[in-house]
Amino acid sequence: KKVVLAYSGGLDTSVILKWLIESYECEVIAFSADVGQEEELDFIEPKALKTGASKVYIDDLREEFVRDYVFPAFRANAMYEGEYLLGTSLARPLIAKRQMEIAKLEGADAVSHGATGKGNDQVRFELSYFSIDPHIRIIAPWREWDLTSRTALMAFAAKHDISVPNTPKKPYSTDRNMLHISYEGGVLEDPWQEATDEMYTMSVAPEKAPDTPEIIEITFRAGNPVAVNGEELSPARMLKTLNTLGGRNGIGRIDLVENRFVGMKSRGVYETPGGTVLRKAHMAMESITMDREVAHLRDSLIPKYAELVYNGFWFSPEMRLLQHMIDETQTVVNGVVRLKLYKGQCYVLGRKSDNSIYSEAFATFEDDRVYQQRDAEGFIRLNALRLRIQRLMQK
Ligand code: ARG
Ligand code: SIN
Repeated sequence: KKVVLAYSGGLDTSVILKWLIESYECEVIAFSADVGQEEELDFIEPKALKTGASKVYIDDLREEFVRDYVFPAFRANAMYEGEYLLGTSLARPLIAKRQMEIAKLEGADAVSHGATGKGNDQVRFELSYFSIDPHIRIIAPWREWDLTSRTALMAFAAKHDISVPNTPKKPYSTDRNMLHISYEGGVLEDPWQEATDEMYTMSVAPEKAPDTPEIIEITFRAGNPVAVNGEELSPARMLKTLNTLGGRNGIGRIDLVENRFVGMKSRGVYETPGGTVLRKAHMAMESITMDREVAHLRDSLIPKYAELVYNGFWFSPEMRLLQHMIDETQTVVNGVVRLKLYKGQCYVLGRKSDNSIYSEAFATFEDDRVYQQRDAEGFIRLNALRLRIQRLMQK
C-alpha cells in the first residue's frame, strides 16, 4: 500500500509520517508544496527520508498559486466576513490538486494530511480530493489517533528518533504563504488578549513605519496587476513586491473572530500586506472602468464567493460559474492607480484608464451643456410616487 502525505517537515507531519508507516504498514511518499512559506526547504527531503518516506516531492507552486488562485479571488474583491482575505483558504485547493496528481502518478491508494478534525483545512483538502477522485481513500490521523496531547506527540517523536525543532515552540499556530501569514490558537484563544508586536513577521507596526509616505503606481490588465511603477512583474514577483511595500509601511494587519465552517468561532490574527494594497488598488481601477449595475451585481456576490472559498468549494460547479461571470466583468479593468502607503494605511491618489467611462463633461459642477438639470425634476417625482401615495393613504 502507498500513501501520499502533505508534509511540511515540522513535528506534526513528521510524527504522522512515522505513524502512517506503523499503523497502516504502508509506503509513504512525502510531498511539500512551496507556496511561499519562506522556509528553508532543503532540509525537507533528508528529514522525510530519515523519518521513513520512500520518496519525496518538493514542488515550487508559487507562480501557479498567485496566478490561478490569488489573482482570481482579487478580481472578485473576495473577502470573508468583511475582513479576511482568505490567504490559507486559497492555498489548500492547490496543494490538494498537486497531491492528487502525485497520487495518480505513483499509483497510490490513499492521501493524507495533517489538518485537525476541528478546523477548516481538513474540509478544504478533502473536498478538493473528492472533486478530483470520487473514490480516493483519505487518512486524517488527527481524527483517528490517540496522540491527542502535546506530551503524547513529543513522546512518540522521542521514541521514534524524530528530531524536535530546538527553537522553542511558538505559543500559537501559524500558516504562511505568498498571500499572508495567519496566527491562531494558544495564547490567542482569549479574544480579549492582545497579540504582542514580536509575533508579526510580514509587516512593521504602523507606529514604527517610516515618517515619509511611499507613492507607488500599479498597472492593471483585465483586472490583474501587471506592473509596479512601470516595471512588469510575474504574478508571484508582483505579490512579493507588494508585500515588501505594504509590509514596510505597516499595512495589512488584522485581528478578528471568524466563523469556521465546522461551527465554532475562532480568533485569528493575519498579516496580508500586499493583498491589502492590491484590493484597494483594484477597487479604484474598477471605479472608473466598470458599469454601475455590473459592479453592484458583482459586489452582491462577494459574500457568496468568499464563503465558497472559505468553506473549501474551490473545485465546484458553482465556483466555476461565479468565476466565469466575474472574469467577464474584468475585461474592462485596465489602467493605472496611484497610491500613497503611509503608517498602516493605503490611500488612493489617482486613477486613469484608456477605457475609462468616467466623464468630466457629465460630472462637472461647472457650467455644463450635456446634462440637463431640469430632467432631474421628473426623475425624482416619478421615484417619489410610491412614497407620496403611501403618505396620502395614511391621512
Ligand atoms: N482561520 C484561517 C482559515 O481558516 C487560517 C487557518 C490557518 N490554518 C492553519 N493550519 N494554521 O483560513
Ligand atoms: C487545523 O485545525 O488544522 C487548522 C485550523 C483550521 O483548519 O481552521
